[in-house]
Amino acid sequence: MVESAGAVVSVKGLRKGYAGKQGRVQALQGLDFTLQPGRSLAIVGESGSGKTTAAMCVAKLVMPDAGAVHLAGTDFLQADARSSARLRRHFGVVLQNPLTSLDPRVRIWRSVCEPLQVHEPGLTKAQLQERALALLARVGLDANQAERLPHQLSGGQLQRAVIARALILRPQFVILDEPTSALDVSVQAQVLNLLCDLRDEFQLSYLFITHNLALVEIIAHEVLVMYAGAVVERGPVHQVFARPRHPYTAELLAAVPGGPLAVAEPGAAAEPGFAATGCAYRPRCPRAQALCTEVQPAPASEAAPVSCFFPLGESPR
Ligand SMILES: Nc1ncnc2c1ncn2[C@@H]1O[C@H](COP(=O)(O)OP(=O)(O)OP(=O)(O)O)[C@@H](O)[C@H]1O
Ligand code: SF4
Ligand SMILES: [Mg+2]
Repeated sequence: MVESAGAVVSVKGLRKGYAGKQGRVQALQGLDFTLQPGRSLAIVGESGSGKTTAAMCVAKLVMPDAGAVHLAGTDFLQADARSSARLRRHFGVVLQNPLTSLDPRVRIWRSVCEPLQVHEPGLTKAQLQERALALLARVGLDANQAERLPHQLSGGQLQRAVIARALILRPQFVILDEPTSALDVSVQAQVLNLLCDLRDEFQLSYLFITHNLALVEIIAHEVLVMYAGAVVERGPVHQVFARPRHPYTAELLAAVPGGPLAVAEPGAAAEPGFAATGCAYRPRCPRAQALCTEVQPAPASEAAPVSCFFPLGESPR
């Protein structure tokens, strides 16, 4: 498979299932996207829709069952351990809980420069420290804070340190999985502003995962809406938000504006094997018809951006 020309990352057909108590859970049923430099993509969807699975598969932190991820023209998933380690410098990862991302026994500046130590082993301690302190200053942490241990910083300060660590190798692409959801609301806004500034300053491309639709408009150009492991709608953020076509997207947008999305009702998400018999969203869908019970609509793709037989904007037959 050939990488799209000039893309910082190109993802095709990613699929992942987990063994569950009642059979295999298809957590990710085909993810495709391409990011050009400076462009950002958000993935939204309620809890359990497969967002983190998508992020983990793109970063090869869990191995997908199928699909391809191209970084810098190379198939990352097929790469051996040595090539994978080299390719990892092309992206940074920021996860929801900053405390779990940093070693509690290691001073902040040392954690931040650890990837640099691995990828540029010739650097002296003074050089490593200089690079770490410069980036920490850029994300709003001073030399005094850089000397502290993780438990001596606030949640917002820790997340700034995690962001610095993700950027220390100057990647073009950063995966952010709910990077502000563990923070207080006022601190969330500060960290989000920082992410926007860094994106513009360093021409970063974000894969930004969130429950919060209000953040999507601020941070991303395109959006993928996920439901029960499948992409149900995709497109430019302004277009999808102004004229949602999938009933689930409309439900999300109608939920608390700017607030966290509703959690799936028990049993409402796809059960193993359920989706194969029809549309997974059918139990919640006000537009469902007999066809929706019998046939599963194809996941949204670039060519067909809505996964629905009776999308909004068209009268149900
Ligand atoms: N390691 C695992 N083993 C088994 N099932 C898993 C595992 N990780 C995720 N799942 C299941 O896969 C589905 C998708 O989970 P995932 O964590 O990707 O969702 P999410 O959209 O990130 O949810 P949240 O918003 O709560 O973070 C869920 O049904 C979840 O229970
Ligand atoms: S395919 Fe049918 S059930 Fe599924 S979202 Fe569309 S109208 Fe609703
Ligand atoms: Mg998640």
